[in-house]
Amino acid sequence: MIVVSSVQALRDAVDGVGSRPVSYGFVPTMGGLHAGHQALIQASTRQCQMTVVSLFVNRAQFAPCEDFSSYPRTMDLDLSTCKEGGVDIVFAPHESDVYPSDFDTTVETGVGSPSRNPSSEGAARPTFFKGVATILTKLFILIRPTAVFFGQKDAQQCAVVRRLVRDLWFNIDVVVCDTVRESDGLAMSTRNGYLLPLERKHASVLYKSLLHGLQLAKQGIRDADQLRMAIRAYIEKWEQLSKPSAVEFRLVYVSVCSSNTFKELDGTVAAGVDCIACVTAMMGKARLIDNIRLEFGVRSLE
Ligand code: PAF
Repeated sequence: MIVVSSVQALRDAVDGVGSRPVSYGFVPTMGGLHAGHQALIQASTRQCQMTVVSLFVNRAQFAPCEDFSSYPRTMDLDLSTCKEGGVDIVFAPHESDVYPSDFDTTVETGVGSPSRNPSSEGAARPTFFKGVATILTKLFILIRPTAVFFGQKDAQQCAVVRRLVRDLWFNIDVVVCDTVRESDGLAMSTRNGYLLPLERKHASVLYKSLLHGLQLAKQGIRDADQLRMAIRAYIEKWEQLSKPSAVEFRLVYVSVCSSNTFKELDGTVAAGVDCIACVTAMMGKARLIDNIRLEFGVRSLE
């Protein structure tokens, strides 16, 4: 495994293997690797001849009030995980190389914009997807992967990347892997490490609320407003009846939307629409996000 930090060293590592391999998988990360990242690495090493992982805590996607400085930085562990996973190249750039002081470009997609859907990551974190799209554009140009791997947990990020790749003519296959969950259903996330033991015990409430929504959808409820309300009601009931007072909790949004456009759905969801339910909440210091496909089929709204 080659570990590089400079742009030139990365270029040399990517091009220096002689004729470029046919398939080049890329797993972009901010480090703090967990089993969810391991699954992405495994998917890439299975599907591609070479795998590149980036480890870079991208300041541009954090608002000033967010956890950029406390975000876990676990480089040694991450390198072992990459090595064990069969990664060929790790790119861990310095911030000053990625964003020199005169850096003056941002990339923005409509699907990630704050105005797209008031109940979304794009609205709750207005600069987040600009930061994500900008760093990914830089990395795609540098690494030139044939496939890039993301987790379904970050559903809106997946939609942003699909749009970016399509609109900017990147010749990259966007592979979305299933969310990896703890045994109680909590979606794996680097930020789960912020949960105190009592919070951790209750953190799977989001997934349970989504399963409740899915169950109703399977029972034939097709009304987006009803599904949204049912998911919200499930969480509110938990807050009233089961949440220990020591657990700080704030529901940020519940959304039932298209997983491609992220437009909120209203009324009866037509058969075949790519419908997804998303929930985000703050529990203590941890921002928890999760989603579930509501299995109305596969016709895109686009
Ligand atoms: O999902 C993440 O870890 C980040 O948003 C990404 C894609 C690595 C961009 O910084």
